[in-house]
Amino acid sequence: MEKKTVAVLFGGCSGEYEVSLSSAAAVIGHLDIEKYNLVLIGITQEGSWLRYSGNLEDIRNDRWHAHPSCIPSFFSPSREIKGLIELVHTEYHVTPIDVVLPVLHGKYGEDGTLQGLLELAGIPFVGCDMLSSALCMDKELAHTLVQAAGMDTPRSLTVYRGGSMEKVLAAAEELGFPLFVKPARSGSSLGITKVHDMKELAAGTAFAFTHDSKVVIEQNINGFEVGCAILGNSDPIIGAIDEIELEGGFFDYSEKYSLHSSKIHLPARIDKDTANKVKETALAIYKTLGCSGFARIDMFLTPDGRIVFNEVNTIPGFTSNSRYPSMLQASGLTYADILDQLLQLAVGEV
Ligand SMILES: Nc1ncnc2c1ncn2[C@@H]1O[C@H](COP(=O)(O)OP(=O)(O)O)[C@@H](O)[C@H]1O
Ligand SMILES: [Mg+2]
Repeated sequence: MEKKTVAVLFGGCSGEYEVSLSSAAAVIGHLDIEKYNLVLIGITQEGSWLRYSGNLEDIRNDRWHAHPSCIPSFFSPSREIKGLIELVHTEYHVTPIDVVLPVLHGKYGEDGTLQGLLELAGIPFVGCDMLSSALCMDKELAHTLVQAAGMDTPRSLTVYRGGSMEKVLAAAEELGFPLFVKPARSGSSLGITKVHDMKELAAGTAFAFTHDSKVVIEQNINGFEVGCAILGNSDPIIGAIDEIELEGGFFDYSEKYSLHSSKIHLPARIDKDTANKVKETALAIYKTLGCSGFARIDMFLTPDGRIVFNEVNTIPGFTSNSRYPSMLQASGLTYADILDQLLQLAVGEV
């Protein structure tokens, strides 16, 4: 089989830049160079694209962009090219790319914008397409569609920057405290607060507006959060369900990456029937939102046995101990198998 050229994208101008560096270092370290030619492209926090040929350590410790190998590069939307254009002095060089593996989280990576560019360019890529990525990124739109498909979602309301706050605050009070206030399109819990009264609600809303012009105010769901890893298209592989045990508060940025007081149980401490129902619901959500390639579906399990949708991560964390690869490893795949399958799906080989 001919060796495929895989472009791995990392970094990105999103609040989850650092998370991407950790995910990408693990992904690149696990890609078999006997099978793939790797082209690494880093995106700085300011949004510059640089082809990078240095080591993994410099990606991990965020020194990659100072490496002498860095060359300004970009994908052209022109379908004639289907590759990476590198600017070398006054000349440009083209490296044909077979498939792109975006290891980017959040805005401009996971939200459909990059996917739109690659669709325009005619270059295959791993993961959900433009529309599905954009829908999954937007917590309001994802909830609207999943609810329309008959599944349970938290009651919520949406507010826009510049809109009147009075009615909103009154409606929010009706939902009952505590409430979750979230930027509609964010990740890693950035910009999210759990609020307990009107004063905190006003402050939480103002804070969320520093991240996004649209904010979702959501009722608190009692119970615990479970995740489901899905890999594939029409008949996907579904990983073992995991469970987040919280000490208090919620799964915020520092807890997610330190697990200081919270724990992840894999498999989740739930019976087989419940696990199967969670998997069925996750798959229904995956299909409703038009996902392909892969995604991690997060839901809440309530004390009265309801499964309530939370969100879909279309490019979930991918370090060697991240939840997505761990859930699939628990059902028999290796980390390298997961990458092989994702790349084969992207180029239409499975
Ligand atoms: N409606 C809710 N009820 C209870 N906890 C919630 C709710 N929404 C969010 N949380 C908590 O906040 C965390 C982050 O919210 P989430 O919507 O998943 O945002 P992100 O996309 O940043 O991960 C969740 O993992 C969970 O701990
Ligand atoms: Mg989440």
